[in-house]
Amino acid sequence: MTRLAHTDYPIHDLLRQRWSPRAFADRLPDSATVLRLLEAARWAPSSFNDQPWAFLTARRDQPTEFALLLDTLIEFNRSWAQTAAVLAVTVARSAFAHNGQPNRHAWHDIGLAVSQLTLQATAEGLFVHQMAGILPDRARELLLIPPGWEPVSALAIGYPGDPNGLPEGLRQRELAPSIRKPLSEFVFTGTWGQPH
Ligand SMILES: Cc1cc2nc3c(=O)[nH]c(=O)nc-3n(C[C@H](O)[C@H](O)[C@H](O)COP(=O)(O)O)c2cc1C
Repeated sequence: MTRLAHTDYPIHDLLRQRWSPRAFADRLPDSATVLRLLEAARWAPSSFNDQPWAFLTARRDQPTEFALLLDTLIEFNRSWAQTAAVLAVTVARSAFAHNGQPNRHAWHDIGLAVSQLTLQATAEGLFVHQMAGILPDRARELLLIPPGWEPVSALAIGYPGDPNGLPEGLRQRELAPSIRKPLSEFVFTGTWGQPH
């Protein structure tokens, strides 16, 4: 399903094409394609170039690992993400490697890496649906995440599928247009509240 963001100003096509589906096709990306997505994440900028991220991944044809990752999602997300071609859980290192001080921007940097992965995915005809709805304690236990690392989010990745295969509530959400606040609500000149 192609859908393009209706933007107020022209932006790059990759950004317009990206959205977060819940219906995925059966088709699996080959491992070289999956590696390209992770390579895109690898080249994200990060505070002190600390690269405070880890990605625990499984393709649907790795059933043991896929089931483990699926088990770390809240039930709602599990219901639709089980049809994804690839699942990933992102994990952030809480302290800088060079001095052990807390890294206040670790989650920010994970977001950047996921954003790069997502745009590479879009360029490859794949879509990424990020999830905050994970069970962090269960993820830590099942995925053997070491101390000092924190589960952040999960990603469902796949080629777009038929929304008609979704349960009715989800089908309606899948077909609803994406909406955004106008720039005037969140862009200020200098001080807070000063219109742009
Ligand atoms: C960090 C993050 C967490 C999210 N968590 C969930 C989630 O747990 N379950 C879900 O169905 N969608 C989740 N989403 C998807 C958002 O609802 C979606 O990105 C937003 O509605 C905008 O829609 P779009 O991505 O299609 O433009 C999450 C997105 C992000 C970036």
